[in-house]
Amino acid sequence: MLRVTSLLLPALLFVLLPGSGRGYFTEERWSPESPLLAPRVVIALVCRNSAHSLPLFLGAIERLNYPKERLALWVATDHNIDNTTAILRDWLIQVQNYYHYVEWRPEDEPR
Ligand SMILES: *[C@@H]1O[C@H](CO)[C@@H](O)[C@H](O)[C@H]1NC(C)=O
Repeated sequence: MLRVTSLLLPALLFVLLPGSGRGYFTEERWSPESPLLAPRVVIALVCRNSAHSLPLFLGAIERLNYPKERLALWVATDHNIDNTTAILRDWLIQVQNYYHYVEWRPEDEPR
């Protein structure tokens, strides 16, 4: 019994003393998020000439059963000859505050 204790004590101290096992470099010392939080997820939307399907598609994203504050949106569009850019821009203006982060990468020219 005594022998087990002498082996366990250093291991317990290592676990119980946070900081002693931490890294020297700052990137090793970041504090992980609570495991109770849903993971942060990035949804990348790459759209071109999709005005006809965007209402359905954007509605599906809004209805995702996932906390919006844990979702980031990365939205890129270019070379559109339809109303894709305007639809995406107006939608992002409406919903951006609900999401963790929104990155908007439109490019209207060249068509
Ligand atoms: C393009 O989309 C915007 C935003 O939904 C809308 O206000 C506008 O009327 C649309 N324009 C055309 C030509 O469909």
